[in-house]
Amino acid sequence: MQTRQTQIRSGWPMSPLDQAGAFDRMDDGDDLGFYARDRFVSHLDRTALDMVERIVGTLIVEAAPVILDLMAGWDSHVPAMLRPAEVVGLGLNENELQGNPALTRYVIHDLNQDPVLPFKDRTFDVVINTVSVDYMTRPVEVFEEVGRILKPGGLFLVIFSNRMFPGKAVRVWKESGEEERVLLVEELFDRAGRFERPEKYISLGKPRPQDDKYAGVLDLSDPVYAVYAERSGRSAAGRTRPELAQGIDTAPGGPELECRKAEVGRTRCCPYCGERLKKWAVPDNPFSQTWDNEFMYICFNDQCPYYVRGWEVMTRGLNRCHSYRLMYHPEKDRCMPVPVPTPKALRESIVEEDA
Ligand SMILES: C[S@@+](CC[C@H](N)C(=O)[O-])C[C@H]1O[C@@H](n2cnc3c(N)ncnc32)[C@H](O)[C@@H]1O
Repeated sequence: MQTRQTQIRSGWPMSPLDQAGAFDRMDDGDDLGFYARDRFVSHLDRTALDMVERIVGTLIVEAAPVILDLMAGWDSHVPAMLRPAEVVGLGLNENELQGNPALTRYVIHDLNQDPVLPFKDRTFDVVINTVSVDYMTRPVEVFEEVGRILKPGGLFLVIFSNRMFPGKAVRVWKESGEEERVLLVEELFDRAGRFERPEKYISLGKPRPQDDKYAGVLDLSDPVYAVYAERSGRSAAGRTRPELAQGIDTAPGGPELECRKAEVGRTRCCPYCGERLKKWAVPDNPFSQTWDNEFMYICFNDQCPYYVRGWEVMTRGLNRCHSYRLMYHPEKDRCMPVPVPTPKALRESIVEEDA
């Protein structure tokens, strides 16, 4: 039964989770049969996979954690330096689970047939679910079960992207936009009634690796969305999880950043990443008419934390698929953001600096 509080938080008059046919699938056949075929493939490009591993590595702070990889395949994305005491895999394909180097044991269990997880209460410190939540036909029951088998304060980390087996993904997922899917997962945490308020981290807009099989087709790396929450109740370990954005981005902040900004006129270097700014000819269009000078200086480093974070900030503000780059205005001696819809945008007006 949906609570009033859930309705207000999700912002939907009627949640898509409650709509008729929300969990229908094009292929409603037996999941065990579908996953009987081995798929030793990467479900994301290398940059996105690295991000998944960094998210897992940053959020798991327990010493020797006991981890469940829920809906596991051949890769659990658990960095070896975490030194887990145990990693249990639950999935459907035996060969993939056997070939997964992180797992200490595994179980074959169809969550859609039986959402009751075959583990005792309070067994795990962490449950991770990667690029698979879209295949759950009874997700609220599964989330409740995850709450049961986690220790108080334990972490449930749900990571997803925008790729899927379309026949097996549930209808509500396929019919939702990427930002709406974040809300859906938040609502699942909420409905399970066993978690603290979920948090999220979104990684968008990174360049796709040159050697990726879709490199010529897609400019950008696969997006990575992480929605996570701790099981309610006090953790016996008494540790605190880092704020994810701070843990992952290493941009300077506070007085150091202000100092670097004040020096840009002299250094011509980005205060966030230190890379040399490129001289950029202001184009003659209505957008730029408010700038009365001929040249600006822009940071075109695609790894710059200011630009990388911009995709997330703009997405939160529902300026879909935009980020911004740091721009230095030499007449005003000021740094400001300049919006960009793609990593290639604005590059055509870069002017090579004199030596
Ligand atoms: C896209 S793969 C993701 C595998 C792995 N989590 C990863 O990040 O590479 C989807 C996985 O979900 C598992 N899965 C799909 N339907 C399932 C079900 N009904 N019950 C349990 N596992 C299921 C499959 O075994 C498969 O390994």
